[in-house]
Order: sequence, then structure tokens, then C-alpha cells
Amino acid sequence: MNRNLLAVILSSAAFAALGPVGAAPATTTAPPPATLATVPAKSRAIDPLDRKVAALLAKMTLEEKVGQMVQWAHWAGKKRDMILEGTEKGHVGSLLNLIGAKETNEVQKVAVEKSRLGIPLIFGLDVIHGFKTIFPIPLGEDCSWDPELMEACAAVAAKEARASGIHWTFAPMVDVSREPRWGRIAEGSGEDPTLGSAMAAARVRGFQGGAKPALDRHDTVVACAKHYVGYGAPEAGREYNYTEITEASLRDIHLPPFKAALDAGVRTYMSAFNDLAGLPTSGNRHTLRDILRGEWGFKGFVVSDWASVAQLIPHGYAADLKDATQLGVLAGVDMDMEGKGYSEHLAQLAKENKVPLAMVNDAASRILKIKYELGLFEDPYVDEKMESATMLTAESLDVALRMAREAIVLLKNDKQTLPLSKDLKTIAVLGALAASKKDPLGSWHCQGKEADVVSVLEGLRRKLPRAQLNFVAGVGPEESVTDPKGIEEAVAAAKRSQVAIVVVGERENMSGEAASRTSLALPARQLDLVQAVHKAGVPVVLVLMNGRPLTIPWEAENVPAIVESWFLGTRQGDAVADVLFGDFNPTGKLVVTFPRNLGQVPIYHSARNSGRPAEDPNDKWTSRYIDSPNSPQYPFGYGLSYTTYTYSGLSLSAERIGRAGKVMVKATVKNTGSKAGVEVVQLYMQDPVASLTQPVKKLADFKRVELEAGEEKTVEFVLPASKLGFHNHAGKYVVEPGKFNVWVGKDSADATLKGSFELTAN
Ligand code: NOJ
Repeated sequence: MNRNLLAVILSSAAFAALGPVGAAPATTTAPPPATLATVPAKSRAIDPLDRKVAALLAKMTLEEKVGQMVQWAHWAGKKRDMILEGTEKGHVGSLLNLIGAKETNEVQKVAVEKSRLGIPLIFGLDVIHGFKTIFPIPLGEDCSWDPELMEACAAVAAKEARASGIHWTFAPMVDVSREPRWGRIAEGSGEDPTLGSAMAAARVRGFQGGAKPALDRHDTVVACAKHYVGYGAPEAGREYNYTEITEASLRDIHLPPFKAALDAGVRTYMSAFNDLAGLPTSGNRHTLRDILRGEWGFKGFVVSDWASVAQLIPHGYAADLKDATQLGVLAGVDMDMEGKGYSEHLAQLAKENKVPLAMVNDAASRILKIKYELGLFEDPYVDEKMESATMLTAESLDVALRMAREAIVLLKNDKQTLPLSKDLKTIAVLGALAASKKDPLGSWHCQGKEADVVSVLEGLRRKLPRAQLNFVAGVGPEESVTDPKGIEEAVAAAKRSQVAIVVVGERENMSGEAASRTSLALPARQLDLVQAVHKAGVPVVLVLMNGRPLTIPWEAENVPAIVESWFLGTRQGDAVADVLFGDFNPTGKLVVTFPRNLGQVPIYHSARNSGRPAEDPNDKWTSRYIDSPNSPQYPFGYGLSYTTYTYSGLSLSAERIGRAGKVMVKATVKNTGSKAGVEVVQLYMQDPVASLTQPVKKLADFKRVELEAGEEKTVEFVLPASKLGFHNHAGKYVVEPGKFNVWVGKDSADATLKGSFELTAN
């Protein structure tokens, strides 16, 4: 359809939908101030903030409205003078990357005191896993399966950020990803939409002040669910690459965490960089208007990703910047992050009626409303005296330690190699990452400083101040280090020690944005280091520090103990030492499958069967490889503990349920070891025969259960019939009658407790 015709159609629809705000006049000169009388009665009944927005909008010129829809980066080539001038003239509604109470106050003062209408700016920043107190990377945080603690972490991040003048975080990132080559898998919740939804909601609550957002408090920030949508499925794992996702998968896999964020009250979304099956997401009316606004009724605003509207041009979707701008606004992108298009072309597009004025009014209103919600009109500044006292408090550091411990996943522990004895006298600590204070900060270190980080080496020193730690960097993740001396020295140190703790993995900048890899192996000569130390005959404990699943087949086969520590943030070393020496009994479980080799990718628990499942190991003509098993190295949901749990007594409350019914699934979990622990009990389900084939197993629910040694508890899950469905390719959610299978277990590969029930047709 001709875009301008579409603009006209959308124009009338948008006017009808907008009510009072949409009716604000289109002027390029300042109209007379609105009075209550000029605001239609309907809005008076709705929301006092809408009334304020409408009144303000009525005073604004078209250019001022467009200005609200523009976000500039503080840096990116702009001089301070340009930012101040743009702010004074109302050319910009938001800044990103300006940080600091004094710094933000200075610019805010210009917006409030010098711009014609005194509209405050909203300051945004990527506060992804902490502001000054840094938490584990999100992939690690999510291995806690602990939404409550997650909420506490996000609340700390919000408090610190707000004290530094930030109102808005570009988080949570809720992209489901089954693509370990993609560097940004580090920033999300991993492969599963159910867990991803729980953690997305927790983060939103934490940032925004709880179940009921309280944005005008001085310790909350507006959250932004990103990257909407499908960005986590780039072809070949290459950053920013094309994504081919069916409507059914979009709705069953990628959209649920975004919806969960909305249900938790998220006020903003970020449109993504990716081309979604030919319709780039920053110009995608289907996802932005039909689903987000139409089906879900989202009332906040959408910001583009960095210049992602302008990038509709190289995508091959827009001819030039004006065209891209028109597409972006028509699709529903309210604010242009660092993109130039809205600044340069939007007012003109509105004058030419190629973008309905109602849409500009609507977008500006959505943005202004959040500024009102933040209380910025009454209280635009931040208390400069409070800033430093808010950072890195003892309580915040304690929350960071708790999350860092819970993020750790114990992957292997043969013959109870771990926990190590505190009586050890000599310990080799090997690998360049062991002493690193930068890498633990992860890919979004924000305002985190190396000086505040406890490295693994320091954590071990704090734990065993009297032991002799023989540290040798040996080699690290850099390819450039080829001198064999490093490995020789490491081996010598291991030989002088009772145990070798080898810390290997990736540098923080090897995951995150624009950090896709074509190999998942330990980079550079780190495997040589591990093998050489292993050959030396000392027991080896491998501590992994990385931002994605790695392929570690040799390590998994040969090294007796493996601890996945991710990038754990400020308290990395303390958390690792607590786990290695048994002061914390590991509880973490993987939220992403670890493949045996790259050839297995994509590999995830909720895959579909083939017509020739590889059930018979001797049958060649089945869905298998000739050079690798199908099974992963470590499945989704997997993680060991220093105690053992046994599962028994699966029972279902009914053999048959109706469409309005639910089934209660119960199982007993017993701590059969000698240490207290926390087990993450997982419920999986399957619809084995459906009109659209369904995954062999998918996570339906989970519960963290605390168990003393010898204690047993019955865990109960409620599975309503309404949750048994799936989306078809027409985008419709259907729940089909028939048999359903359920499993309760310790991970996605645990098939010991299985039950089934039937859903009847009515
Ligand atoms: C680009 C990234 O994709 C996005 O996640 C981030 O929020 C923006 N840059 C702003 O830094």
C-alpha cells in the first residue's frame, strides 16, 4: 500500500482513538494556553495526568512536539554547546549517557528555566546489571531462578542511577535467545520464555518501585523492555543479522517476556535493530501497532534503538531518511534515539500530511505523560548531596554478593572435589582472568569501577588469608599471547600446590553488543593451560568466567570440578570463594543449554521432534549426527549442589480436566545429602499431538525450595488449562483438547517423574 495513503487511513483511526490528546491543534506558532474548559470533558474523567498532558500539548508548536520525540546521546560528536542550545530551543526531549547529579542538573536547568515551556528532559542510560554496584550479567542473574532477589538487585540499580540523575534505564533486555554465538545472549534471560517472563517482570518491578510503579520516588527509574522483538535470533549468530521467525514462534517464544514486562507495568519499549522476516522491527507496524498498542493496549512510549529508524535504509526498507522517518512514526516508534530523521524530517512530514498530526500528538503525549509520572515537572532536579552516599552501600554490596553466589552454576564435581578444605596450605591460582578486576564487571559495567571489584584472586586471599596462593597468569583469552613460558610457569606453580584453581573463559568484551563469535571454545591457549596443569597431576578446579555457553568437551570429560561463574560483578571473588570453600552451597541452574560442539547449535530443551527421532542408537536412518551425540553437554535447568536431592511421588489432582479447569501437579523432593540447600524444582509439559507440532518438553513453572539436610517437602504446581495452548500461524492462541504430559524434575533432561492427564473438549 502507498505509504501516504496509509498515513491518511491511520490518521483518521488515530484521531478516533486518541480522544482529547489527538484533538490538540496543529500549529507551528504557539497557540494560546489551554484552559480546563478547552480540554474535552472525557479526559477530565480519565486521568489527571492526561489532563495535564493535554493542556501542555495544546500550548506546544509542532516543532516542540517533535522535539519531545528526539533523543540525543550526550556524546556521539555533539558539543556541550549544541546540547544546551538544542535543549533551550526544545529540539530535544531526552538525553542518553549524561550521568551525574551535577551534570544532569545543569542541563535540566536549561530545559526547565530557559526553554519556552520549561519541559524537563528525561535522562536515559543503559543500567543493565547495576549502576555503581555491579551485579552478575543478566544471563548469570537468571541462573539464580530467583525473581525475588532479581527484583532487589534491580531496585539497588535504580536507586543508584536515580541518585546520579538518571530517570530511565534501557533495561530489562528480555530477548529470548538460543544462539550462543550471539554476544548479547549475555544480556538476556537465555533460551526460555517462561523463566524469561518471570525475570523480566521482576526486573521491571525492581526498577519501577514494585508491583505498582512509583516513578516519582527518588529511588526508582522507568524501565524499558528491549529489544522489541526477535533480536535474539540472528541468522548464524551474527550481530544485527536478519531474523526469520514465524508468527507462531514470535508469539510463543519471543513475545511472552515482553508481555510479562507490560503486565508488570513497564512504561517504555525499545524497538530493535533486526529485520524480522522482511519487516525491520523499527518500522514494523504489525509488532508495534497491531500487537503492542492494539492487542496489548500499551500506553507508554516506544524509543528506537540507536539510529534504528535511519537503519531502515540499509535494511532496504526505506529509500532515504525522510522515508525512514515516515515509516518509523507510522509504525509506532515515538522517540528517535540518536537518529536525525525525526529532527530533520518529521515536522515537514506532518505538514505534508504524510504523517498524521494525531500521531505526533499521540507520541509527544505518551512521552510527556511519563515525565509527569516521574514527577519531573514539580521536581526536576536531583539532590547532589545524596549522590555519593547512595552508591555502594553495605546493603547494596550484600545484595550483589547474594546474587553473585546464586548466579554460579556447579557443572561438575567428581568425587566431591568441591568444596575445598579450608586447611589447604598451598593453592595454585592460574589464568589471567583470576586476577582481573575489569572482566567481572561484564559487558555493561555502567559506572562500575575496577577498584571496587573483588577479583577471584582477592576473594581467595580474603577467604584463606594464611594459605600460600601461587598465582600465575599463564595465559588469558588473548590470541596474541603465544609465549609458552606462561604455561610452563603455571605448571610449575601447580606442582608446588595441593590444588590448582584455573580461571579461564572470555574477556568481558567478547560478549555483549557487537561481539559475536564463530567458536564457542575457550579462546586462545587457555585449553592448553588447562591440559598442561591437569597433566601435572594436581587436582584441578576449573572456574569459568564468560558471557555465553562455551563448548568444553575435553574439560567436561577430564577435569574433576567445573564451576560456571559468568561475570559476577563487584563481588565476583567473594562469591567464587564462598562456593569453592563451601560457605555457600550452589543453587544455580543453567538458563541456556551448553552444546558439546558448535555444530549442534541451535540446541535448546524445547525443540520439536523429527519424524525420525533418534531413539534407537543402532538405527542410522534417524535424526542424528555421525560425529556427535544429539544430547547437549549440559541441559537447560542443570546445576549441581553439594547436597543431593531425590524426587518422588508425582501426583496429579485429576486425570481429566475441562477447559476452565486446572490440574495440580505435586511431587516430593528430599534433601538426601548432609548439607542444607536450595533446589530449583522444575515443571515441564508437552502437548504430544497438536494441530501445530509442539516442543518435546517445555518449561511450565518452577519453584525454589529450601531444604535442610534430610528434609523433604511436597512441591505443588498449578497448571491451568488456559496455559496449555499455543499460537498458530494466524497468531491465534488455541488450547486443544487431548492428552498432556508433565514432568517434575531437577533439569530439562530429568525424565524420571512423568505423568499425564487429559483435557476434555469443554
Ligand atoms: C544500542 C543497544 O542495542 C541498546 O541495547 C542500547 O540501549 C542502546 N545502544 C543505547 O546505548
